[in-house]
Amino acid sequence: MSADLTVDLGFVTLSNPVILASGTAGHADELAPYMDLSIPGAIITKGISLRPRTGNPAPRIWETSSGLINSIGLENPGIDVFLRSLPSLVSKASVVGVNIFGETVSEYADLARRLNEVDGISFIEVNVSCPNVEKGGEHFGHNPDLVREITHLCRQAAPSKGIVVKVPPIIGGMDVCEAALDSGADAITVSNTIPAADVDLSSGRMVPGTAGRGGLSGPAVFPITVNAVRQVRQAFPGAKILASGGAAGSKDVLKLIMAGADAVQIGTVTFLDPAAGERIVGELPELVERLGIDSMSAARGSAIPA
Ligand SMILES: Cc1cc2nc3c(=O)[nH]c(=O)nc-3n(C[C@H](O)[C@H](O)[C@H](O)COP(=O)(O)O)c2cc1C
Repeated sequence: MSADLTVDLGFVTLSNPVILASGTAGHADELAPYMDLSIPGAIITKGISLRPRTGNPAPRIWETSSGLINSIGLENPGIDVFLRSLPSLVSKASVVGVNIFGETVSEYADLARRLNEVDGISFIEVNVSCPNVEKGGEHFGHNPDLVREITHLCRQAAPSKGIVVKVPPIIGGMDVCEAALDSGADAITVSNTIPAADVDLSSGRMVPGTAGRGGLSGPAVFPITVNAVRQVRQAFPGAKILASGGAAGSKDVLKLIMAGADAVQIGTVTFLDPAAGERIVGELPELVERLGIDSMSAARGSAIPA
């Protein structure tokens, strides 16, 4: 008998634990020419805001020996244009999550309210790793009180959708995760890109972007994600956790589940292989069977020392 790959997140059941991560799978069905979009357990669209944003000037991506540093600056067409292209993705994907961010606390609630009315969206992923324009650019995600407020407002504004809060890298305490889980999040995504920079010897400048810094993703961050997921699982045994950071193959997906994740997002690997979502789901049954794993729920957290 083949292993049970399904994942029960409470607000939705996924056919398997592989999720295409926000920002690496497009705003709609851009990956459709490369893969069957119904195969991954879920797809999360690129971050959307109330108004369109042009993002940062190019170059916005810098390749390192084991990952990417990006400073896209949350470019997006705004919610109105986004909602016009969404039905095409909804018709192809098995489960759709929409990633949102606001420049103010109230913008998060406005976005959640708009999305609550839209059929075909299963959950809203709330990205708190962005600057609060009302507070001099402080990151919302660095302030547990603001995370609590944002989560609570989104929960109230979107009662018919799952609320997933995507927390910044776990450095130090668990207060941001606790704030999200205490104020109505159904799940948390652990975590996001990690602040990073490089020097371009040909220009003599820090890169990427005009600020000379960005967020690191890809294989370089994988072991950091494994440790962060473990820490969050130990601190919150009953929480639903989506891992995000560095997973590039079926073995990585399984390792993150064994470290405590319920499901695993894949991002940067899609730039190398646009069909990675389909490939990784295809590899999982043989891998879990070889390791004698019966179900994803049995594997979850199984590697954490007692
Ligand atoms: C080019 C690029 C754009 C991204 N855009 C978003 C975004 O709009 N919202 C968000 O929450 N995360 C965004 N991310 C972060 C990814 O969703 C993911 O959390 C991160 O890249 C770590 O996973 P990975 O190593 O599998 O890529 C982006 C990442 C990349 C590389």
